[in-house]
Amino acid sequence: RAAAAAGDPSTHTDNQKLLTKWRSPAAVPDRCQGIEMDAVTVNEDGIPYFFHSGFLFKGFHGAAERANETFTELDEHQHLGHVDAAFRLHYEDHPTEHNNIIFFLDTQIFSYYQHKLEGGYPKNISEVYPGIPDHLDAAVECPKPECEEDSVIFFKGEIFHFNFKTKAVEMKEFTSMPNCTSAFRFMEHYYCFHGHNFSKFDPKTGEVHGRYPKEARDFFMRCSNDHVERERCSRAHLDAITADNEGDMFKEVNDTLKVEPIELTFKEVKSDVDAAFTFKDDLYLVKDEHVFAYRVGENHTLLDGYPKTVKEELGIEGPIDSAFSCDEHQHVHVVKGQLMYDVDMAASERNATNERSIMFPSDAAMCGPRGVTLVKGNHFYHFDTLKLLFSRAVPERHQVSLELFGCDH
Ligand SMILES: *[C@@H]1O[C@H](CO)[C@@H](O)[C@H](O)[C@H]1NC(C)=O
Ligand SMILES: *[C@@H]1O[C@H](CO)[C@@H](O)[C@H](O)[C@H]1NC(C)=O
Ligand SMILES: *[C@@H]1O[C@H](CO)[C@@H](O)[C@H](O)[C@H]1NC(C)=O
Ligand SMILES: *[C@@H]1O[C@H](CO)[C@@H](O)[C@H](O)[C@H]1NC(C)=O
Ligand SMILES: *[C@@H]1O[C@H](CO)[C@@H](O)[C@H](O)[C@H]1NC(C)=O
Ligand SMILES: *[C@@H]1O[C@H](CO)[C@@H](O)[C@H](O)[C@H]1NC(C)=O
Ligand SMILES: *[C@@H]1O[C@H](CO)[C@@H](O)[C@H](O)[C@H]1NC(C)=O
Repeated sequence: RAAAAAGDPSTHTDNQKLLTKWRSPAAVPDRCQGIEMDAVTVNEDGIPYFFHSGFLFKGFHGAAERANETFTELDEHQHLGHVDAAFRLHYEDHPTEHNNIIFFLDTQIFSYYQHKLEGGYPKNISEVYPGIPDHLDAAVECPKPECEEDSVIFFKGEIFHFNFKTKAVEMKEFTSMPNCTSAFRFMEHYYCFHGHNFSKFDPKTGEVHGRYPKEARDFFMRCSNDHVERERCSRAHLDAITADNEGDMFKEVNDTLKVEPIELTFKEVKSDVDAAFTFKDDLYLVKDEHVFAYRVGENHTLLDGYPKTVKEELGIEGPIDSAFSCDEHQHVHVVKGQLMYDVDMAASERNATNERSIMFPSDAAMCGPRGVTLVKGNHFYHFDTLKLLFSRAVPERHQVSLELFGCDH
């Protein structure tokens, strides 16, 4: 439900104007305004690199840098006005090139490792990828088993699958797919960027499942000036887990935003949750009248007997607003409206007891070694101890999007 408000037409018109302005080489582009990317890839460490007319954006937030500062030789051989396509080579049978970053500029190909151009490069595209046209639109690596063999998918109006082993080129028709200006493999998912939008596609069939296109900046860029992004940030729950209304999950790991469909991670929960908390290393998601408990691991598995009703699990009628537990305690604290309850998770018959009024209703709550945090709308409040939740002293109000989840840029 958070992303439903995307697409204010007046903003798009403005963006078009700005887009045109940024085509002039001097202007430094701002990705939060919605711009078209020439090429997207991850670097050797898995950090996404977005290229836009001579500029490079590293990671999911931050300002543009000149691409020639990181990739010097690109500029020496050919003025780095733009990159047609880029990908991270995945070809385990060829360890000397495996994980190199490959760039396509007009008729030439550049192979980089650790920001250094490999010997012998640049080469002609036709030398390395016979049968693949010059002046590409986009390219993306497709290792097996995501594609049948280790391959690269090239885009230029048509789609070419290049098989590393046999060097065979197979033309494919991806009829439901828009023409991509860049393509990106991330977390084993495939994204086609077109304009300032993207669509997720199946690399084998080119099928686009689900409701696409979506705005790239709502998902791949963290921008504080975007109300949708702020909403999504403010709805983040424990573990900084959020889900958009299409069921994509975003997790922040070491300042890197990771995206995967929620149904992959939590097969049973199809969309946004009301509350989330961890208890004894298991993750509990509460949605309407039901509680889903997961053993967290490589694959999150739903624990036996779940989902249970909120009444059965927490001893209170659902829905609830938020829930949290503080370390080393057997209690889960449940917030419903302006009331908070304690639930003894060791009891076989759960009962929400110890009803108390808290300062204000909250959308999300979390507890850690440094105290309790309540999130309400776009703001959050920090309490050093649980007791302070019931006092009358309102703590300082902080902006969720700016501080709690680093949703600034
Ligand atoms: C990168 O390109 C800009 C603009 O063309 C130029 O002013 C700058 O000196 C270049 N930087 C490097 C490191 O080559
Ligand atoms: C690369 O292409 C150019 C222009 O078509 C040609 O002159 C050159 O000989 C080619 N280089 C190689 C190594 O094939
Ligand atoms: C994609 O590009 C091809 C070739 O340039 C063109 O014929 C086709 O109409 C384009 N498709 C869309 C959806 O724009
Ligand atoms: C981009 O996606 C939005 C929906 O998220 C849609 O309304 C808009 O028409 C799309 N624009 C283009 C150019 O595809
Ligand atoms: C996060 O960063 C730390 C320190 O750099 C590292 O030890 C840890 O493995 C990283 N975690 C993930 C999930 O990448
Ligand atoms: C997780 O799921 C994948 C794909 O279904 C499977 O290959 C893998 O063995 C599973 N891992 C564990 C620890 O169950
Ligand atoms: C739950 O707690 C309330 C108040 O402490 C008590 O009246 C009620 O009997 C308890 N119910 C159960 C099922 O333990």
